[in-house]
Amino acid sequence: MTSKARQMKAQGLDVISFAAGEPDFGTPEPICDAAIEALRAGATKYTASSGTPELKAAIVEKFRRENGLDYRPEQIVVSCGAKHSVFNTLMVLVEPGDEVILLAPYWMTYADQVVLAGGRPVAIALDPESGFVPTLEQLRAAISPRTKAIILNSPCNPTGAVLPRATLKEIAALALRHDFWIIADEIYERLIYSADHQSIGALGAEVKDRTITISGCSKSFAMTGWRIGYAAAPAEVAQAMSNLQDQVTSNPTTFAQAGAIAALNCDADVVDAMRDEFRARRDLMLALLQAIPGLSTPTPGGAFYVFPDVSAFLGDRCPTDADLADYLLNEAHVATVAGSVFEGPGHVRLSYSAGRTDIERGVARIAEALGKLL
Ligand SMILES: Cc1ncc(COP(=O)(O)O)c(C=O)c1O
Repeated sequence: MTSKARQMKAQGLDVISFAAGEPDFGTPEPICDAAIEALRAGATKYTASSGTPELKAAIVEKFRRENGLDYRPEQIVVSCGAKHSVFNTLMVLVEPGDEVILLAPYWMTYADQVVLAGGRPVAIALDPESGFVPTLEQLRAAISPRTKAIILNSPCNPTGAVLPRATLKEIAALALRHDFWIIADEIYERLIYSADHQSIGALGAEVKDRTITISGCSKSFAMTGWRIGYAAAPAEVAQAMSNLQDQVTSNPTTFAQAGAIAALNCDADVVDAMRDEFRARRDLMLALLQAIPGLSTPTPGGAFYVFPDVSAFLGDRCPTDADLADYLLNEAHVATVAGSVFEGPGHVRLSYSAGRTDIERGVARIAEALGKLL
């Protein structure tokens, strides 16, 4: 949708995009300066495949300070984005035929990567009414003797849902009882509005020993193009991931790693300012969407997405959410992403990674276009 919207913009059309999966802010200047200085100082050679000792030390310190997680440097693997960290994790843990539990709606990459690793995704369909939080019964029903792992993503892309501590505890207890891994993708951890972020691995030593905690610089520090993500895992898992990466990409870009150190050590105000702006945009977008008759929009607790239920508008003209997303682009010149892309049919994902004026103009156009469908 993003590239289609760009094409339309290039043709001179006034297209507003709510499709982006990345912050619209530029990377904060001190982070850019650190990478430029490193580049000038000769940070142009290979590093250890799993990352420089300096960056690993900064990540260890970050996990201790922000997440209450105590890792050693040999438990850290830095990769070319958190997407790469998830891939490494699945490739080393999943054997052919293994099942990996996903909470739907989910970031579509998870299912494809599980399949690439030879596994089988087992999706739990979450209910918007329960805030996209799984019940204990749903979790229990998804577990089988072939369950190798569950992937958690809190705050979540695409719903913005934040898993409550009580649910994390239930999942941790099930993982211990049924002997499966927890893959916790915490990439949106700093963009959270209603609660403090809770890392599942911080619930106890036994839980941490079966958790791979994944995060990165892309979303919190507006560094999507730098391609720096990282995973923290039990030492033997981290070693296997490092060995795999050694034969695939080697190290993530050397001077980007220097920028990542500056990001992890930067003043909290830098990230807080971006988060506060995202919160204001979320509140604005929600208020406007919630005023549209027929549209049901749950309040997300984090990330930069809202995930309204559009099923009341599906019918002859737009039979599916994908048709509706096309309709909104063609009729209203607003780009969104169809919920079925995330295993969340009957919804669309709107990113509020857009300025407030665009949010006001874009949602007004959506309201008008949807009104024509009722
Ligand atoms: C849930 C989730 N995890 C991971 C990523 C990938 O982040 P990175 O840019 O670090 O590869 C994304 C990007 O959209 C995401 O939404």
